[in-house]
Amino acid sequence: MNADAAEASIVIFGASGDLTARKLLPALYCLAQDGFLSDRTPIVGVARREKSDEEFRAEMFKAVSQHSRRPVTEETWKKFSERLFYRVLDLSNAEAYPGFAQELGQIEQKTGVSDKRLFYMATTPELFFPTAEAIAKAGMVPDRRSKSVLRMIFEKPFGTDLTSAQELTRKLARLLREDQIWRIDHYLGKETVQNILLFRFGNAIFEPLFNRTHVDHVQITVSESLGMESGRGGFYDKSGALRDVVQNHMLQLLALVAMEPPAFFKARDIHHEKLKILESMRGAEQDVKRWAVRGQYSAGKIGKEDVPAYRREDRIPPDSNRETYAALDVRIDNWRWGGVPFYLRHGKRLPKRVSEIAVQFKLPPTNLFKTVECEGDICELVEARPNKLVFRIQPSEAISISFGTKRPGMQYQIHPVQMDFAYQDAFTTSLPEAYERLLLDALRGDSTLFMQSDELEACWRLVTPVLEAWEADPAGPELYEAGTWGPEGANKLLNHGRRWHNP
Ligand code: BG6
Repeated sequence: MNADAAEASIVIFGASGDLTARKLLPALYCLAQDGFLSDRTPIVGVARREKSDEEFRAEMFKAVSQHSRRPVTEETWKKFSERLFYRVLDLSNAEAYPGFAQELGQIEQKTGVSDKRLFYMATTPELFFPTAEAIAKAGMVPDRRSKSVLRMIFEKPFGTDLTSAQELTRKLARLLREDQIWRIDHYLGKETVQNILLFRFGNAIFEPLFNRTHVDHVQITVSESLGMESGRGGFYDKSGALRDVVQNHMLQLLALVAMEPPAFFKARDIHHEKLKILESMRGAEQDVKRWAVRGQYSAGKIGKEDVPAYRREDRIPPDSNRETYAALDVRIDNWRWGGVPFYLRHGKRLPKRVSEIAVQFKLPPTNLFKTVECEGDICELVEARPNKLVFRIQPSEAISISFGTKRPGMQYQIHPVQMDFAYQDAFTTSLPEAYERLLLDALRGDSTLFMQSDELEACWRLVTPVLEAWEADPAGPELYEAGTWGPEGANKLLNHGRRWHNP
């Protein structure tokens, strides 16, 4: 165990869900194995269903064995599971919380951890406020004078539009101080996402090119091949692609690619720079048809497998108009980026799971050479290829730069080539999961990778008019065949002959 291993009581509210089994417990297990979590730290799962500690441990054993990136043996599990507890609580019953507070106190007495708590709201969003309110009423929110620490992590979605997000912020502010509210976006915990800032501000040769003089446009793609497996249709049909992924994960990626260098690499400075970008976003809110495209998948094939149309999926109404694909053209109205399109697209049932950011540079001012592509001895003339810098967020995490080089021989011809850095070639350690990093940061009190309410509001401000226009438009989303790169309309979003970069 590290000397500075984190210690706190960790309580997961809503512990019977998928998130706890697939992400949170495996992440905590890895942190413990890597010595980042003190051996005394209790982890308490809380949910309505009756269950003993032993039953909870057995369930989590299965989940962690399946989803953790560190191996689980009898010995490691025995040590880890001694600190795992389960308590029954009907989260919607405020009167039950004082009893739970007592039970938690008893666990803490037993483990010897007392004045620091991390509460994780893994509940449905409707329960965020009632749960926080009941926690406060039961006296579990320490006031400013107390030396006890409470941090409450809220999962997404934080609101469903601008008004509801603002209202949630206002209501929570009556119960908790801003330093007690931690809004998580798991994309920020991904190693490759953090690397965007290191790549930009830790090297001298790229950053001078990141501006409207050199960059033609930026494309951000978060593509998934999955549809509505594991019963998630019920949740998804209320949300859709724009709320589920674009409003949060993708706009955070945009902020990191576009922000100015911070004065210091500290939460406050990074937040400040991100906010300036998010507040300068324009586009979709003005003329939705011109700046935004939505789609819904029809039946098709993913690889060799036939998959049904969205409207035929489990828990989806057969007349649903919910979008499973969204693409936006976003502009950043500042001196660095004025006029440079940031094209964002996300969809379910696209050909593969891949997240990428492609920065496409302008072509040289004169076209002195012919560009050819050759296979063996056969070469064909192609359009001049602009330089491109691609951050591959997942899978096969990498960064690549494409450029033109002289084709060997007695002619002056450009041949496009690529320079690659792949994590798996350069490093032997496996990449930590996003939730490992974010849970550890929250335990340590480092909010650099968490979102503040003003960032969130800026994102909702951009997408809410799009959501409203789509709700009001009876035409519904354009269909695209499952296993293709989305609806035709998305190609028209890209102007001036630009094309989507399909990974
Ligand atoms: C979640 C969305 O926030 O992110 C899911 O709710 C989506 O619909 C997921 O599949 C994507 O995350 P990742 O880490 O698998 O790219």
